[in-house]
Amino acid sequence: MTDDPSIKAVFPPKKIPAFPAALKRENLQPVFRFHQSLPGYQATPLHCLPALARHLGIRNIYVKDESRRFGLNAFKALGATWAVAGILCAKLGRPLADTDFPALKQAASHVGDMVFVTATDGNHGRGLAWAAAQLGCRAVVYMPAGSAASRVRAIEKEGARVWVTDRNYDGAVRLAAAAARENGWHLVQDTAFEGYEQVPDWILQGYTTMAREVLEQLGDRELALPTHLFLQAGVGSMAASVLGYYANALGEACPRTVIVEPDQADCMYRSALADDGTPRKVGGELKTMMAGLACGEPNPFAWRILRDFAAGFVSCADEVAAVGMRQLARPVGGDPAIVSGESGAVGLGLACRLAADGALAGIKAQIQLDASSVLLCFSTEGDTDPDNYRAVVHGPPR
Ligand SMILES: Cc1ncc(COP(=O)(O)O)c(C=O)c1O
Repeated sequence: MTDDPSIKAVFPPKKIPAFPAALKRENLQPVFRFHQSLPGYQATPLHCLPALARHLGIRNIYVKDESRRFGLNAFKALGATWAVAGILCAKLGRPLADTDFPALKQAASHVGDMVFVTATDGNHGRGLAWAAAQLGCRAVVYMPAGSAASRVRAIEKEGARVWVTDRNYDGAVRLAAAAARENGWHLVQDTAFEGYEQVPDWILQGYTTMAREVLEQLGDRELALPTHLFLQAGVGSMAASVLGYYANALGEACPRTVIVEPDQADCMYRSALADDGTPRKVGGELKTMMAGLACGEPNPFAWRILRDFAAGFVSCADEVAAVGMRQLARPVGGDPAIVSGESGAVGLGLACRLAADGALAGIKAQIQLDASSVLLCFSTEGDTDPDNYRAVVHGPPR
């Protein structure tokens, strides 16, 4: 619906939503308590960018800066830690709802050698490696072909064994699942597939902590609720977690939400375009600098939440993420600077392009983004590929 080839959008007819019980606020108290008991837990900063908002013709912009999560430069450990806790509690016969980190660590020391395995574009693997190391367990991590050396090293630094495969992300997921079966390891994958649902559900629950922190931070500072939410998607677990949480917690006040993907891995966009309720896959190399979003197969549980609650789906060229990275690095007015990586910045990049490009007026009108709007974005990573970050932010425009 646009004349701009770098941005495509679809706004499927409204669905009758099924509220996901796993994401109800009352079921998530144990998750938040567990995260608070982890070493180094701190709510990540929520920044306001009023000068940029004025520049873009909207009322305010909030950016949740997940580069500061547990010193890991991305939000992902929120999911991995809760999933590892779930697996350990099941093995130990302990109730997950009552667990905290010190008790779990103590109990884990009695279960012997446990190995957790996953596939990752980078951030989830680092989060899992960190979670395993905190509990004295081991981690094995499979990565897609072409993974940045800096992302491999960051995972190895947390003590995990890393294999860079010759597959794309979805192929690496299958290798990790096979390795788990063959070796008796525990698969901690951030996407679901037939017969594998419990762990990805825990991961989705884990991500809600950042959505909850935002509501608390807005309340503490007496700031208005957002009217709009731009959420980036790979397999869709993060977006579904945040949107499902807000749909449950805020009801009618849930922000109008747009799901944003790279055009080389836009499985949610294509699923929405088909609009028959079932998810679509994208194959091939999934070549995008938004490595965290380079996933061709939706998490089916996440897809159902996005299908039911998102207002629209946008598929973007890499340059849209670059716009967001540069804007956050070099703020206008007195706004704070934020280091935001490729997958973290695309939502803000989309907001900038919507304001600047008349050819996108149809999208703005469709989501009613105007002078009264307050936009919330999650900058889900910092400079996890520092060479590319430098090239995009400080190099010549491309
Ligand atoms: C930085 C970053 N943002 C967003 C995502 C998307 O999360 P999901 O795959 O759950 O959609 C990822 C996934 O790895 C990521 O690393």
